[in-house]
Amino acid sequence: MSKTSSKANPESDRAPEVDPSIVSVMGNQHDYLPAAGNDRMLPCYDLLSRVLGTPKVHRRLLDLAGTPTGPTLEIGCGTGNLTVMARQMYPELPAADIVGTDPDPLALARAEHKAIGLTGIRFERAYAQALPYPDGSFDRARSAYMLLHLDSEVRKQAAAEVHRVLRPGGTFFVVDVGGRITPSDGFTARRMLRSHHVAGNLGDGIPQLLTGAGFARCEELHSEIVPLVGRVTYYAADR
Ligand SMILES: C[S@@+](CC[C@H](N)C(=O)[O-])C[C@H]1O[C@@H](n2cnc3c(N)ncnc32)[C@H](O)[C@@H]1O
Repeated sequence: MSKTSSKANPESDRAPEVDPSIVSVMGNQHDYLPAAGNDRMLPCYDLLSRVLGTPKVHRRLLDLAGTPTGPTLEIGCGTGNLTVMARQMYPELPAADIVGTDPDPLALARAEHKAIGLTGIRFERAYAQALPYPDGSFDRARSAYMLLHLDSEVRKQAAAEVHRVLRPGGTFFVVDVGGRITPSDGFTARRMLRSHHVAGNLGDGIPQLLTGAGFARCEELHSEIVPLVGRVTYYAADR
């Protein structure tokens, strides 16, 4: 290309901006990004999760959500730790059925094993962007650390699907890495600021995603630094 034509169109030498796929990292062969990035690492997921303080994060999400009032859907439940915790927290509410969903059959097999002996809980294979439930089926929905596994278009579809399957007045409780991360939040947080997995969760990315999908409002409930994870932020979005 001649200098002249380059000057006439300064954009012409630049590579097109691409949104790098979140799903096709770490040699992943699936059309979803599994919990631990790939199947081989799945057996380590629960241990890693404990090291990263995830049980405390799950517990806080459930505390912030309060007593369930009816059926609850969890999207991206992985190995079922939050789903099972939610069931065990309110054993006196068998009517408040909990459905945990995930596209990963290997993770779901682990989840089902943990739920042996519990009632009012079941696991089903489903993608968040194509939920196999009628409109208004659930009082609540939940997700933990799963939005960062979705590419940007899929995030929008998943948000619209959660909105659809919640009854009017229902609430979607979310916790994820993101929110108002600043460099002063620490080393991990600074890495998160550069991660394309977290990009859609930064600032008010999650409230914008959810209100864009039709939720009436999305409130930030809490935000905290979790060592080795960075900043995690909790939200409630009302249908
Ligand atoms: C980091 S794991 C979190 C698992 C669990 N929520 C927890 O807190 O331990 C993210 C989960 O999202 C699931 N996931 C990835 N793509 C998904 C999709 N399109 N729809 C629903 N879940 C998906 C993965 O299979 C994985 O189990």
